[in-house]
Amino acid sequence: TRVAPNAVAAVSEARQWDRLMELAKLGAITGADGAPGVNRPCLSPLDREARRLLIGWGKAIGLTPSVDALGNLFLRHEGTEPGLAPVLSGSHMDSQPAGGRFDGIWGVVAALEAVQALREAGITTKRPIEIVAWTNEEGGRFAPGCMGSMAYAGHRPADAWDDVTDGEGIRFGDALREHLAAEADIPRRGLGVVDGPAPHAYLEAHIEQGPVLEQEGHDIGIVTGIQGSRWFLVELKGESAHAGTSPVSLRKDAVQDMVRAINALNRLMEDPTDVLRFTVARIEVAPNSSNSVAETVRFTIDFRHPDAAVLTGRGDAIEATIRGAVRNCEVKVTERFHALPVEFAPQVTETVARAAAAQGLSAKRMPSGAFHDAQFLVPLCPAGMIFVPSHRGISHNPAEYSSPEQLAKGARVLAQALAELANG
Ligand code: GLV
Ligand code: MN
Ligand code: MN
Ligand code: MN
Repeated sequence: TRVAPNAVAAVSEARQWDRLMELAKLGAITGADGAPGVNRPCLSPLDREARRLLIGWGKAIGLTPSVDALGNLFLRHEGTEPGLAPVLSGSHMDSQPAGGRFDGIWGVVAALEAVQALREAGITTKRPIEIVAWTNEEGGRFAPGCMGSMAYAGHRPADAWDDVTDGEGIRFGDALREHLAAEADIPRRGLGVVDGPAPHAYLEAHIEQGPVLEQEGHDIGIVTGIQGSRWFLVELKGESAHAGTSPVSLRKDAVQDMVRAINALNRLMEDPTDVLRFTVARIEVAPNSSNSVAETVRFTIDFRHPDAAVLTGRGDAIEATIRGAVRNCEVKVTERFHALPVEFAPQVTETVARAAAAQGLSAKRMPSGAFHDAQFLVPLCPAGMIFVPSHRGISHNPAEYSSPEQLAKGARVLAQALAELANG
């Protein structure tokens, strides 16, 4: 078409990069070797500052902000037929506790860049385009992640996580209420398909977070789907005792039972093909004192696989495996996240493929190992994702890096694809 190349030319590499660097100041941290990372917990004052910046940039070009009951933030570019279902594009603005400057937030900034380019090129779209920043994708402060998109999609009720607490004991429900009060000046909207119709399509831009595109020399990943994930919280309750006086044989030692449980789980999760992902990475011990036997341990399980049968089979065996392994602690296992593997719609993947080809970019079809808000949009509308390379595949780490040029290529593909979807 004649239309899209103008929008592509209007994408500004410098403007997109400058915005990312300005946002990266909010929660800036320094990682190993001075790597410039970010710690921006969801629903924190820093998260709100980032949203304010975004809203300001959006308003300056004529976009209309609104926020829903989960705090999901939208910026609307009006279509010539405003009654039509919008095309949705965005990602998240929260980060991991020791995160990078691009995970999530680039997808939001790229959607703004794409829409701004369309507007500057004088291109109208039949359908509205809504830029979205989903609440709590990471699950770093409040577990699990993807709360905003799950509630939007009606996958879980809006109040499902009210009692989830962060590391300081603050309830998600209270943090959300405080957040919405702080954003009371922003117009409220209904909650996704719980309160209204489905979007026409969803397209999320994201850094790859893995090494494949860089290693193989591609500009763009056409994401074909996302593997399934299950998260569990395991709580072991024993009895605290004096480390010097209590005989080992009489103890109810929660740390020792955790070790037994994790060893048994490692056997359950063995996979010679190295496709399965099994991670224990958050452990809380009480009383957490060198000379007191541990009374309680809480640890997390993150389990992922692209095959639903494996995800179900081994995932369902987790609790029994733990119970069979521990010696004398009480066991409680709670499943906190269950996302089946999804495949993205050809309508979206082919639109992305066409846009990349039209721009002379090298693209590869690939699945996503990370989960993303996009997977909860799959049941609602044709959905898909665009990846750009991540240097050395590093992510969830302050050293995460994609170059201004790589990110601009991604935004150009996004602009062309959004123009096509919003005129379809
Ligand atoms: C999302 O951040 C994930 O853990 O895949
Ligand atoms: Mn992300
Ligand atoms: Mn992430
Ligand atoms: Mn993520």
